[in-house]
Amino acid sequence: MDWSQIRALFPAADRYTYLNTAAAPPLSVLAAREGKRYYDEMAEHADVAWDRWLGEVEEVREKLAKFVHAEPRSIAFTYSTSHGMNLIAGILQHCGDVLCPADEFPSCTLPWFQQRYRVHFVCSRDRGIIDLHDVQRSITPETRILVASYVQFATGFRQDLVSLGRFCRERKLILVVDATQGMGVFPIDVFASGIDFLVFSGYKWAQAGYGVGGLYVSPRFLDIKRFPVAGWWSVRDPEAVINDRLDLKETAAALEVGCPHFAGIFALGAALSLFEEVGAARIEQRIHELTDYLHQRLDDEGLRVASPRAREQRSGITIIEMCNAPDVVKSLAEKRIIVSARGRGLRVSVHIFNTLEDIDHLVAALRELSPGVTRNAR
Ligand SMILES: Cc1ncc(COP(=O)(O)O)c(C=O)c1O
Repeated sequence: MDWSQIRALFPAADRYTYLNTAAAPPLSVLAAREGKRYYDEMAEHADVAWDRWLGEVEEVREKLAKFVHAEPRSIAFTYSTSHGMNLIAGILQHCGDVLCPADEFPSCTLPWFQQRYRVHFVCSRDRGIIDLHDVQRSITPETRILVASYVQFATGFRQDLVSLGRFCRERKLILVVDATQGMGVFPIDVFASGIDFLVFSGYKWAQAGYGVGGLYVSPRFLDIKRFPVAGWWSVRDPEAVINDRLDLKETAAALEVGCPHFAGIFALGAALSLFEEVGAARIEQRIHELTDYLHQRLDDEGLRVASPRAREQRSGITIIEMCNAPDVVKSLAEKRIIVSARGRGLRVSVHIFNTLEDIDHLVAALRELSPGVTRNAR
């Protein structure tokens, strides 16, 4: 499949210059079709396909497990990152304090506050880079848990998960990763990185739409006695409808307390199949190429990139420094160019449906808006 064939799978990309995956990208027609298939079947045949749907959920679980290099028994479906993070905080039963980069999205931090953990923050350096020396200096004897996003939503900084995992292992810290802003386009190997818990929402880079997410629980925490939630669907034989004793599944699926969100899970399955077909290395390379081009064009225009420049710290998110970003977002939207205001300016994000022409459109529009764009003197 070449890039124009991939682009054709995303009709929204023809209606808009859509550079806003970090907020929420369009779905491919393949993912949309899979979600819709469930609703169509439900409309035409009611619940008679229930058993088949359950089988399909397990196929998606296997696909997701393969995608992050885990075993299916370690995977649970959730409805959001916040949901998954709350489950993790519950599983860890106040085993110690949490350390977290200061710029993380609230889904990474608020669940821990709510569950009465002590949370400490590590400041990032220029361009949002988290330096492990700074993390080291913030560790106290009470620190047991490190929570970090793979890709930071407001700076675009991408963690080296293998180094972070090694760092945590050597200090006996539990590593919790929010992969929402990287899942689908940058590699994730929970085993090679020694990740203890991984969460993500499906509605961003995974291109699966709202209402579905994933949670990985490493084998050492797959202890159902520590699971903080249960429901009729958590048990080994739900159809037995036993209500006076617990007989939980021995897998992360026990965290799925009620009936599955079939449409979201099927859409996620189709999105993962597309990533698999295009190829992980090719996708990563494409994001880098588009971002190289974007950075080059911004440099030529004298606009300052506030996100990391080195490929190994970069993601699909670029922040263009400007102090009137919310106004620029509105002006661009009038031209059907969709971006967000985040961090130190304008957040532009590129996914596999984007093209070099999308970037040209953005840069031309920014040039037209020039009086409203604050250029950095540096
Ligand atoms: C890093 C990160 N995690 C998670 C989310 C979304 O959280 P939730 O799935 O809880 O809505 C966002 C949204 O911007 C995010 O940037």
